[in-house]
Amino acid sequence: MKKKIDRCGIILAGGSGTRLAPITQSISKQLLPVYNKPMIYYPLSTLMTAKIRNILIISDPKNINLYKDLLGNGKHIGIKLNYKVQKKPRGLSEAFVLGKKFIGNRKVVLILGDNIFYGDNLKEKLIKAASSNENIIFGYRVKDPQRYGVAKINKKGRLESIIEKPKISPSNIAITGMYFYNNDVVKKVTELKYSKRGELEITDLNNIYIKNNNLNLYTLGSETAWLDTGTFQSLSDASMFVMAIENRTGKLVSSPEKISYLNKWINKKQLLSIAKSYKNDYGEKLNIIDENY
Ligand code: TTP
Repeated sequence: MKKKIDRCGIILAGGSGTRLAPITQSISKQLLPVYNKPMIYYPLSTLMTAKIRNILIISDPKNINLYKDLLGNGKHIGIKLNYKVQKKPRGLSEAFVLGKKFIGNRKVVLILGDNIFYGDNLKEKLIKAASSNENIIFGYRVKDPQRYGVAKINKKGRLESIIEKPKISPSNIAITGMYFYNNDVVKKVTELKYSKRGELEITDLNNIYIKNNNLNLYTLGSETAWLDTGTFQSLSDASMFVMAIENRTGKLVSSPEKISYLNKWINKKQLLSIAKSYKNDYGEKLNIIDENY
C-alpha cells in the first residue's frame, strides 16, 4: 500500500521586499512576474510536485486579498488553500506560530515565496522528503554564500551549525528556502526569541534541531537549479532562465495546472478547459499533454 503523506505546506509570501524597491513599493514581491507567471506559482508548484495538497499562504495585510484573487481556494487545481495574515515581517520562523492551528497534528514543509527549484530528479527528492520522518533542509553550493544561511560542516562531514550571513563563510553551501519538519516544530518555535533585527530566525530554529542532532542537510547538486529572486539581478536572471527553458522545450516550467494534471488531481478535460481560458502562449503550452513533463 502507498504511504500516505500526512504533511501540509506553508508558503511565506510577505516580507518587505526592500531590495526590490521601487518595484515592491505598492505590491508584494511574490506577485511579480518571473517570465510568464507570478512568482508564487514557483514555490506552489514545488509543493505540489512533493504531492502536498493542503497549503497555507501567509502574506501581509495589504496583499493577502491579492493572493486570494489569484489562487482562490485552490479547488480548480485540486488543492486546498488557506490564508493567514502576518501583520509585520517578523521572521521566517513566525510561519509556525501563525500556522499553528492550520498545521494541527501534521508534519509541515515551509517554502519561501521567492525561491525557485527546477531540475532532474527533483520530483523524487521532494516526494521522498515529504514522506520522510526526518527533519530536512536542502543546501546548494553557490559562489556568494555570505548572502544566505551557510552550513558549517565538521570533520566527520556532519552539519555542525548554520551561520546566518557570515562575513567569512565556513563553506560554500547555502541553505535554501525549503524546510521539512515534524510536528514538533510548533513547540520548538516557542523556544525562540526575536533577534536583534526583530525576527524569529529560521537559522535559530535550525540550530536548535542541529543541537538535538535532529536535522539532516541534503545538498542538491548542479543537476538542480536553485534560484532566488530577491534582487534586481536575480529576478531578471530567473525570468531569463525560465524563458530559455520554456522556449527550448515548448513546455511550461512550474505550472500548477499542469502539475495538478500529472498528479491526477484534475482530469484532461479540466486541464484543457483551463488552457482554453488563456488566450496566449501560456494556454498553448498548457494544451500540450505530455506525461513525461
Ligand atoms: P527575505 O528575502 O529575507 O526578505 P524580503 O522578502 O522582505 O526582502 P528584502 O530583504 O529585500 O527586504 O524573505 C524571504 C522570503 O520570505 C520572501 O519570500 C518574503 C518572505 N518573508 C515573509 O513572508 N515574512 C517575513 O517575516 C520575512 C522576513 C520574509
